[in-house]
Amino acid sequence: MQSWESYMAARAALEWQVELGADEAICEAPLDRYAPPPEPEAKPAEAPLRAAAPDPVEDARRAAGAAGDLAGLRAAMAAFEGCELKRGARNLVFSDGDPAARVMILGEAPGREEDQAGRPFVGRAGKLLDRMLGAIGLDRTAPASVYITNVLPWRPPQNREPKPDEIAMMLPFVERHIALANPELIVLMGNVSCQAMLGRKGITRLRGQWAEAAGRPALPMFHPAYLLRNPAAKREAWADLLSLRARLA
Ligand code: URA
Repeated sequence: MQSWESYMAARAALEWQVELGADEAICEAPLDRYAPPPEPEAKPAEAPLRAAAPDPVEDARRAAGAAGDLAGLRAAMAAFEGCELKRGARNLVFSDGDPAARVMILGEAPGREEDQAGRPFVGRAGKLLDRMLGAIGLDRTAPASVYITNVLPWRPPQNREPKPDEIAMMLPFVERHIALANPELIVLMGNVSCQAMLGRKGITRLRGQWAEAAGRPALPMFHPAYLLRNPAAKREAWADLLSLRARLA
């Protein structure tokens, strides 16, 4: 009986729809064609453009390349914020001697005395360097004699070894420094400057062998600080100084 009643109800509903004009069955569920259109689905928020990570080596390259002279290079290095060593240092140690010299000495990094004075090689190692240079007639206070700088212009804390990333980010400044001073020869004092300019360490094997750095002859030598700790190595240092003098003759 119940199914008879539901059949009759369904039939009445159908007849009523036919009366309204429905003449085609489209789908099982009713469709309200007058309902407002559904809200468009909210788009996921666009990811904000991520700022490129700072690249200190690229920044250094740009700043160094823009320096047109040594004063500009010094200013560019003073303004460079990529190297943490700057925060712990008192002074930027740029150079000493005459930039017009034929010989450029490239040391490692300032120590305590250099940090205080703002000049390279003024401590014990610097005094020995002056004596070594004096032995072959070079003098940083004389015109056109010798020009001195370091791979790093800021003192590493507790005079620790410069880290590879510190060397890499200061290298564009060193290369520009060499290009602007344009020395005929470079002396690479110790492992850090050999690492920076030749991409190699091992000063005991490298010393005394003329190499090429920044497009010019470069002589790796024992660092004067090493010679203070190992006086027996002064013999090799003397041989290297004679080799330098011979090149300059
Ligand atoms: N050692 C260096 O390599 N440079 C200096 O300026 C002082 C000590």
